[in-house]
Amino acid sequence: MDLAARLNRGRRPAPAAPLAPQAPSQIPPRSASEDLEAPKPLLVEIPPPPKPEPSELKAPAANVQSAQYYAIKTAVHDRLVNLLDLSLLDTLPEAEINTEIARMVESILREEYSHAPFNSAERSRLLQEIRDEVLGLGPLEPFVRDPTVSDILVNSYRQIYVERKGKLALTDARFQDNDHLRKIIDRIVSKVGRRVDESQPMVDARLEDGSRVNAIIPPLAIDGPALSIRKFSRDPLELEDLMAFGALTPELGQVMQAVVKSRLNVLISGGTGSGKTTLLNVLSRFIPSDERIVTIEDAAELQLKQEHVVRLETRPANIEGRGQITQRHLVVNCLRMRPDRIILGECRGSEALDMLQAMNTGHDGSLTTIHANSPRDALMRLETLVSMAGMNISQESMRRYIASAVDVIIQARRLMDGTRKITSFQEVTGMEGDMITMQEIFAFEQTGVTQRGKVAGRFVSRGVRPKFSEQLQARGVEMDERLFGQRVLASVGGEA
Ligand SMILES: Nc1ncnc2c1ncn2[C@@H]1O[C@H](COP(=O)(O)OP(=O)(O)OP(=O)(O)O)[C@@H](O)[C@H]1O
Ligand SMILES: [Mg+2]
Repeated sequence: MDLAARLNRGRRPAPAAPLAPQAPSQIPPRSASEDLEAPKPLLVEIPPPPKPEPSELKAPAANVQSAQYYAIKTAVHDRLVNLLDLSLLDTLPEAEINTEIARMVESILREEYSHAPFNSAERSRLLQEIRDEVLGLGPLEPFVRDPTVSDILVNSYRQIYVERKGKLALTDARFQDNDHLRKIIDRIVSKVGRRVDESQPMVDARLEDGSRVNAIIPPLAIDGPALSIRKFSRDPLELEDLMAFGALTPELGQVMQAVVKSRLNVLISGGTGSGKTTLLNVLSRFIPSDERIVTIEDAAELQLKQEHVVRLETRPANIEGRGQITQRHLVVNCLRMRPDRIILGECRGSEALDMLQAMNTGHDGSLTTIHANSPRDALMRLETLVSMAGMNISQESMRRYIASAVDVIIQARRLMDGTRKITSFQEVTGMEGDMITMQEIFAFEQTGVTQRGKVAGRFVSRGVRPKFSEQLQARGVEMDERLFGQRVLASVGGEA
């Protein structure tokens, strides 16, 4: 089932997005009693449109990209939308709808556009594109279907980027115009009970299949609507995948596993799209299955394998601006749920204070992420977030509080060649004066860039025996001390 169909489950579909302005639908409104009747045939009797001028019917002969191809596609699509009883779309199985659409497109082409000599490849392309318009996300649908695409970024109606394997690339897909893009955005957000308009020009939503969507429209988006989709992967990356991608070394993998098992509090730091959530997911897999885990997220993305998990998700305010449930509410509530571990998807507001309190009061082994460019920045950001919560204590006491809560900071980074790496693994060791002290145990050092634009560098062990070794021992987690000996663990990218 494709994304749009999954979105559709149990819901009446939003009207299909017409490709171009069209006459008001001629389908009469349905009464409540009609809903109870047996499904009707999809075709509704409508008089055919006036015959187009012969000049409009010239075939797009060789070039399927031609304006005529689009003109005919638009016309066939509009005709189909008029003929189709859209309200029946969610009552019929997907296969039947697909067959019906194919039958109708064939018959429209035969009866009204017989002058357009499409070859079979062009016909099937036209049919697929029309299906995508009626049932899916239009020009985005091929990327939604493509499992190798992880992000879809629509900068404007004619500029669509996708990310595959960490690499962003411009595609040649495009919407017809801003209205077309806007209609697809409306369709996406209305299916999850949200809306976007002048009074609410940006919306963040999680789709039913778990994908995350952000849409922003004018006047906030200056050049027309913009849309970003982070696709949900049913098959999230595992530690082995990250190692295979060269994001970290086996040594760091072993230490991270030991750190989570022995209940140290971990803060994952990184910029946008640097791999924080992915790493959080990987680390949470190491939590023993007999521990009770509560996860708190703005948009549920984590995919834990354990059985004993309660997942909580925030709720935005409703249209009247009421009913918002923040991460802070959920952290406070979660403390009453007797969790052994709390996993907070991203610490980005006043919930930082409650999270630190939890970490300091017996919920050790908690994990969270924070938006920062280095472990030192992460601590500073945490300080800012805690002060936002209105905790009235001196800066030194606040730092002490942070230092005693956080044990380990792991830095994730998206490098200039698009690869993602764990660039630093640091331990918080305590305080010196009013400064929090840390020591780096593992790092990735960039040495340059190869001629092909790849980052060259090496993973190193700094030769520091972490203070937390004792805690690992005390908790019965075995750790080979030789892992911490100073050396180069791996080189990547060859000679710069
Ligand atoms: N080490 C890696 N190698 C390759 N791809 C990765 C790696 N880590 C994460 N990814 C991919 O990068 C994308 C972004 O990852 P992720 O969602 O974890 O980032 P994030 O830092 O949480 O982003 P955001 O700031 O938007 O929350 C995802 O598609 C993910 O599958
Ligand atoms: Mg994230």
